[in-house]
Amino acid sequence: MNLASGDSGESTLQETMSDMYHQLLEAAIDHLRDLKNRGEKYVHLAPETLKALKTTPAAGAARAPQTARPTSTKPIGSQEVAVSAPPRKTAAPAQPLAVSTPTIPAAVPNPAREAAQPGASKADATAGMEALRQRILTCQKCPHLASSRKTVVFGVGDPNSPLMFVGEAPGADEDAQGEPFVGKAGQLLTKIIQAMGFTRETVFIANILKCRPDTPGQESGNRKPTPEEMATCIPHLLEQIQLIQPRVIVALGATAVEGLFGKIGGITRLRGQWHDFRGTPVMPTYHPAYLLRNQSLATKREVWEDMLKVLEKLGCPISEKQRQFFTKAA
Ligand code: URA
Repeated sequence: MNLASGDSGESTLQETMSDMYHQLLEAAIDHLRDLKNRGEKYVHLAPETLKALKTTPAAGAARAPQTARPTSTKPIGSQEVAVSAPPRKTAAPAQPLAVSTPTIPAAVPNPAREAAQPGASKADATAGMEALRQRILTCQKCPHLASSRKTVVFGVGDPNSPLMFVGEAPGADEDAQGEPFVGKAGQLLTKIIQAMGFTRETVFIANILKCRPDTPGQESGNRKPTPEEMATCIPHLLEQIQLIQPRVIVALGATAVEGLFGKIGGITRLRGQWHDFRGTPVMPTYHPAYLLRNQSLATKREVWEDMLKVLEKLGCPISEKQRQFFTKAA
């Protein structure tokens, strides 16, 4: 097409530009559909490209098609455009092209949840979680725990997060405050989450047991949940996982692993290896309480290497500084 010949008026030039824009736009859409049909889930776009895509055709007609061309590079902090959300647990009908703008740590998109519950909005997961909370808060399935607890420790965080941490059971601090992982071990978990580039608000934290295991006749102390207690409470966690559809679960400690998988081995052997929980990748690692008791650099590094694997699985950018954490004493 020769823009210089034939067409003289400004409106003709604009029409030609508009035609070009639409042709290029359709070509870009065809290309994205093609990628989608071949199973690609993401294309990586520079931030300015995403910005250009968000402008109206009138404002960006001549520019958008060129900048919309997907690139295969994956710069740190790049924006991702979801070509499709992969059907995982339920067969999802074809999704419209969805643009998401992950910025860590403020917001992390969760394509797995969108795939498993097509059409479900973020508000649906939030409302579902709230309805579940209301049900669980009055649970009496373990009468001995219902009578000894101060609160039901439901869970905390973003019901739309792609990342979920699962611990064992609330301790005294958690029972008093109604929130998981707020005691000393919890504060360490919070630091780990922050070192990963997240906050407690952008992940979801829950336990196998929602009530503090009672310790009759004792003023203080904790005990491991019994297999019966775990079996009774696990449906609540399963409902949480079903609502969140996390892309990754981190199982904190041996009891969390046992609650999810049964007795499959010791945490020392299981940690650092991916496991599959009904289609969701699970990374077992040491419980933060164990880390508090074993403060060696080597143990910290083991946990950190597990978290690096989680970040990689989530496709999160990892800085060189992050990669080097716990390689040498501070
Ligand atoms: N340990 C856990 O496993 N969960 C908590 O919520 C607190 C400590």
